[in-house]
Amino acid sequence: MAFDLPCILYFFFFLFPSSLVAQRNGNVTVGDSLTAGDEATLWLSPAGDFAFGFRQLDKKDLYLLAIWYNKIPDKTIVWYANGDRPAPKKSTVKLTAELGVVLNNPQGGEIWKSGPGNGEAAYGFMNDTGNFLVANANGEKLWQSFELLADTLLPTQIMEKGGILSSRLSETNFSKGRFQFRLIQDGNAVLNTINLPTGFPYEAYFWSNTVDSNSSNAGYQVVFNESGYLYVLRASNIREVLTPGRVVPATENYHRATLHFDGVFVLYSHPKNSPGNESWSVVRTMPVNICTAVRGLKGTGPCGFNGVCTISTDQRAICRCPERFSLLDPDDPYGGCKPDFPTQVCAEDVPNAPEDYELVQLTNIDWPESDYEMYTPYNIEDCKKACLQDCFCNVIVFREGTCWKKKLPLSNGRQDDSVNGASFMKVRKGNYTLPGPPPIPKKNHDSLVLVVSVLLGGSVFFNFVLVGVASFAFFFIYHNKFNRTPQVERAVQSNLRCFSYKELMEATNGFKEEVGRGAFGIVYKGLVQIGSGVPVAIKKVDRFVKESDKEFKTEVDAIAQTHHKNLVRLIGFCDEGQHRMLVYEFLSNGTLASFLFGDVKLSWNQRTQIAFGIARGLLYLHDECSTQIIHCDIKPQNILLDEHYDARIADFGLAKLLSLDQSQTFTAIRGTKGYVAPEWFRNKLITVKVDVYSFGVLLLEIICCRRSVDTEVVEERAILTDWAYDCYQQGMMHALVENDEEALNDMKKLERFVMVAIWCIQEDPNLRPTMKMVMLMLEGIIQVPVPPCPSPFSIAS
Ligand SMILES: *[C@@H]1O[C@H](CO)[C@@H](O)[C@H](O)[C@H]1NC(C)=O
Ligand SMILES: *[C@@H]1O[C@H](CO)[C@@H](O)[C@H](O)[C@H]1NC(C)=O
Ligand SMILES: *[C@@H]1O[C@H](CO)[C@@H](O)[C@H](O)[C@H]1NC(C)=O
Ligand SMILES: *[C@@H]1O[C@H](CO)[C@@H](O)[C@H](O)[C@H]1NC(C)=O
Ligand SMILES: *[C@@H]1O[C@H](CO)[C@@H](O)[C@H](O)[C@H]1NC(C)=O
Ligand SMILES: *[C@@H]1O[C@H](CO)[C@@H](O)[C@H](O)[C@H]1NC(C)=O
Ligand SMILES: *[C@@H]1O[C@H](CO)[C@@H](O)[C@H](O)[C@H]1NC(C)=O
Repeated sequence: MAFDLPCILYFFFFLFPSSLVAQRNGNVTVGDSLTAGDEATLWLSPAGDFAFGFRQLDKKDLYLLAIWYNKIPDKTIVWYANGDRPAPKKSTVKLTAELGVVLNNPQGGEIWKSGPGNGEAAYGFMNDTGNFLVANANGEKLWQSFELLADTLLPTQIMEKGGILSSRLSETNFSKGRFQFRLIQDGNAVLNTINLPTGFPYEAYFWSNTVDSNSSNAGYQVVFNESGYLYVLRASNIREVLTPGRVVPATENYHRATLHFDGVFVLYSHPKNSPGNESWSVVRTMPVNICTAVRGLKGTGPCGFNGVCTISTDQRAICRCPERFSLLDPDDPYGGCKPDFPTQVCAEDVPNAPEDYELVQLTNIDWPESDYEMYTPYNIEDCKKACLQDCFCNVIVFREGTCWKKKLPLSNGRQDDSVNGASFMKVRKGNYTLPGPPPIPKKNHDSLVLVVSVLLGGSVFFNFVLVGVASFAFFFIYHNKFNRTPQVERAVQSNLRCFSYKELMEATNGFKEEVGRGAFGIVYKGLVQIGSGVPVAIKKVDRFVKESDKEFKTEVDAIAQTHHKNLVRLIGFCDEGQHRMLVYEFLSNGTLASFLFGDVKLSWNQRTQIAFGIARGLLYLHDECSTQIIHCDIKPQNILLDEHYDARIADFGLAKLLSLDQSQTFTAIRGTKGYVAPEWFRNKLITVKVDVYSFGVLLLEIICCRRSVDTEVVEERAILTDWAYDCYQQGMMHALVENDEEALNDMKKLERFVMVAIWCIQEDPNLRPTMKMVMLMLEGIIQVPVPPCPSPFSIAS
């Protein structure tokens, strides 16, 4: 008969005496080591209650150097050394004379060491108390795990003044978490939240009340005595016991006190000789209700920003998101929530009509610390109205004649019956969901790209021929695509309608709903009757602007002749005395600006599709319509998004008409700061290349989801065009798309887009590519040459 598995293991242990056998009495000799991933090796305490060794982290090939209860089924971890720096497989921990316990990665790099660093350690000992100690030849303690506090206190352990117990980040992530249990200078043992990056302690939410005006009687130690009682010891030796009544005897029970990742400090007991399935029973929790206890003005509370906390039967936090919100990190219920709709923001040229928002009632939910206004005495109807009309307001709570206005992010949210009164959340109307992935574009030129990229790299002449052929094929394909518009749309396109002022007055309900302000007038939302009701955006051209007379004619003429799927369509106009108006199709998703700089972000894939759309629209304006149009004001506020999140260029109000045989023109400075090409300021000829420049800036904004000028970031990043070039030059392009996994996984395209953008923002207009070239480079049909520094003149001066 062949060996069965237990047999082999038995055999193995006897032939190769492992550390498990060697350390049976708790002693560890200098030179002993353990390897992560080798389950058989542990350093056990004499009675086997505790083990020291590696524990594998949840489903990852990472290990924690830890101490745990080794006799109970769930092997509860009570101490860990490297929560913030988990060790890879095959890492080793070794007891050395020089450095004490040393944890090294497989390459020999040091992850953690206990100390002391004076070359005296003689042996180590895993005590049955759960304390691992390092001693010198005289048996004097040099280091002990009880002094390096993790998240758990054990009987016989003492926390001195200044000691800090830190929670984990989550049940399975042992990085430092948001909560602390400390014995502070005034003698109080407190629970408090912290700011995670800096460790700065926020307000306490639990106190032992062991201060004394007579400082000789203030608390000076937190003691967990061997009988399982936890108390604060005062200087006068008086004990303020934190454990209630009598605790179960320590001879038959384990005791521990653990600060959990939700901020609850729990005293537990567990029978030592459990026949099988007993678990830890709660002796006491501090505080009794974590949801209502944490109410500092800073920090998030147990459930993260916008989260809502309810208390479980064992007095731990249960977190959930309010209606129309979802988890920030789907794997972390305690990490906070984000809205599933674009929240209202107080900014111009972002669609924010109060009519687009409504209040939904919440049941017994309050975020007590997020108020910014309090109206009293007041009534509930006025309270609701006040919130709807206030673009800062996200939530209201109304209770007994008082109205509190609150804003995002909300903190310390809780739901319980004690929240009497009514609360309401302001949400976007309709079943608005986050932008899904756009329809996958038909890549009918994929094979072409492949052929071209395979063939590219031959002679210069050959490449020229190829590019010619490619562009021809490319434009042929696109041209056909553009002409495939549905019948209905074509009818709208070709019939520019002349509206009367009265008609538009009715359509807009007397010009009530303002949706934006363009360069030359205010834009209103309306509903015109063309067959059925069609939503439109009506641009009222301000008659007080002197130039507007000419601008109006220009705009109508130019737009009337444009038909492209990446341009906003003009439906009609009104020219009645002083009343001049343009009637455009209404695009439901508003401007690109709100998606680049607002709360709801577009995915990398959607952003690249938008960049292509804008490039196509510009290419059309520059090269393909009967009269060349220079837009002059390309910026995210002038790019609208349709229901499929396709880009549509809007606002031709500044467009200067050019006939095709005349390619250059002088004109007064137009456009918007941050996006205008340098030649505007240099009194140079203005060509289509000004749009190429603005497109380059916009492309960088689309890549990075930030404004071209941002004074709130560190100085060297404030000017996007400069920073982008620096990143490109230093091969640090990933810095431009921080945390955008999708973009980071698409490095080739990211690199291509950044290089194209740098070509577009060249100070010398002649160096900038045409939109045709931009299109070919973005698509990857032709390779992007290495771009030069965009502003050599500025650097020289
Ligand atoms: C552990 O080792 C030390 C030194 O070798 C020895 O003095 C001590 O008795 C040992 N302890 C046990 C419990 O075996
Ligand atoms: C182990 O812990 C017990 C109880 O605290 C203590 O008496 C003993 O000295 C410890 N052993 C060593 C080697 O420190
Ligand atoms: C724990 O969380 C931190 C912060 O989110 C993260 O950086 C780290 O990778 C996580 N650790 C593990 C082992 O998942
Ligand atoms: C402070 O406490 C000590 C010891 O309990 C006591 O002797 C002393 O009188 C107290 N002093 C005052 C001012 O209460
Ligand atoms: C531990 O503390 C409790 C409460 O003060 C006390 O009753 C008990 O006698 C203490 N146990 C020991 C071993 O000192
Ligand atoms: C173990 O669990 C089972 C089912 O939960 C229960 O019926 C049984 O009584 C438990 N045993 C002990 C010793 O608690
Ligand atoms: C919104 O979605 C819910 C659930 O999908 C549905 O019951 C409801 O009718 C929808 N409301 C509107 C206005 O579409």
